[in-house]
Amino acid sequence: MRFGIKTLDEAEVRGKTVLCRVDINQPVDRAKGTLKSINRIQACVPTVRELSDRGAKVVLMAHQGSDIEYKNFYTTKPHAAVLQQLLGREVKWIDDVCGPAAREAIRALKDGEILLLDNVRFVSEEQTLFEMKLCLTHEQQAKTLLVEKLAPLADLYVCDAFAAAHRDQPSLCGFEQVLPSYMGRLFEKEYCTVSQVMEAPVRPCVFVLGGAKISDAFLMMNTVLSRGVADKILTGGLVGNIFLTALGKEIGSGSVNFILKSNYGEYIEKAKELYAQYGEKIVLPVDLAWVEEGQRREAALGQVPGDITSLDVGSKTAEMYRQEILSAKTVFVNGPMGVFEQAPSELGTKAVWQALADTEGFTVLGGGDSITATEKYGLASQMGYICTGGGALIRFLTGEELPVVKALRHGAELCK
Ligand code: 3PG
Repeated sequence: MRFGIKTLDEAEVRGKTVLCRVDINQPVDRAKGTLKSINRIQACVPTVRELSDRGAKVVLMAHQGSDIEYKNFYTTKPHAAVLQQLLGREVKWIDDVCGPAAREAIRALKDGEILLLDNVRFVSEEQTLFEMKLCLTHEQQAKTLLVEKLAPLADLYVCDAFAAAHRDQPSLCGFEQVLPSYMGRLFEKEYCTVSQVMEAPVRPCVFVLGGAKISDAFLMMNTVLSRGVADKILTGGLVGNIFLTALGKEIGSGSVNFILKSNYGEYIEKAKELYAQYGEKIVLPVDLAWVEEGQRREAALGQVPGDITSLDVGSKTAEMYRQEILSAKTVFVNGPMGVFEQAPSELGTKAVWQALADTEGFTVLGGGDSITATEKYGLASQMGYICTGGGALIRFLTGEELPVVKALRHGAELCK
């Protein structure tokens, strides 16, 4: 038992049907019907292999998110093929989630066999819009179609989906109400690593916050600053631009319009408040970069032309952040410094990522863009810990109890 949650060490799984929720949500190439990345599938292999080796009938549930406003959900069929290859053993797949065909396939499983169900989000109760609109309690989630149809076929439930631990959906929080529940190996590793770093970070502890996911970033800053976890926060991307705007700095009308168009105007006020309280810990860019006719341009703050859209931090900022990272003992990273996907605006992200690889401090990265940048620069093996979760890691860092952690604690009570 760790953190009030049972681990697989305590589970007797031989001959049992185990419902295992994994997060293998990956970017998909729809035209080719293939996955653009497989890091999350690789990460759940130890749990799946262990359950199968220990003689469980393994039923995997997973979602494959959508890139367009929660529409166009995609099948998990390609994931089954990748998992089968990584495991070197058969992974059955069925184009059903909890209907008669899925239930029949579950009943037919033999000890050690593995079955991946189709995308759980084909069931509307699993969709994030549904979650946000209806706010079902965990007890109510236990009465949803998915749980009512699948739980009677299973002996126990395992959650290995730390990357989805911030979601409050039946496949993640409903089964723990009715089945003895455990966390999988990946969940255990991720939760332990981020908890330890958060509880007692080796100092100085520096946060690098960039990217465009603003609401969670601001919540998280409040927590890590007020609790004294972060000694410094280095800002870039949209986070940096919002702070600069809050302090009345010229960042170019295109940058400001982008903030307003994205409805992030309210964060300018929040940035003012945070800066007033913790200004000495919040480090802002000293120069910015933009792209003109395909060429990178830079200017120090105070000399930024009024009509540009900033796409990166400037090279002085990148060097300043590099030095901060090199002297840190713990570094949490979420979000790139700019639009690193295109060459003229990748300098800031590239330099910061190289510093993360070079520092002797322990680095923890999370989030889709952060992982993509790590892969782009080939630095994965030089990072301390790459968390599969983006939203889940940030939500954890905001200090909230994650819904899945709460549910698993409840499910631990049902274990004999
Ligand atoms: C993620 O990618 O953050 C998790 O898989 C959760 O996906 P979602 O944002 O589509 O719920």
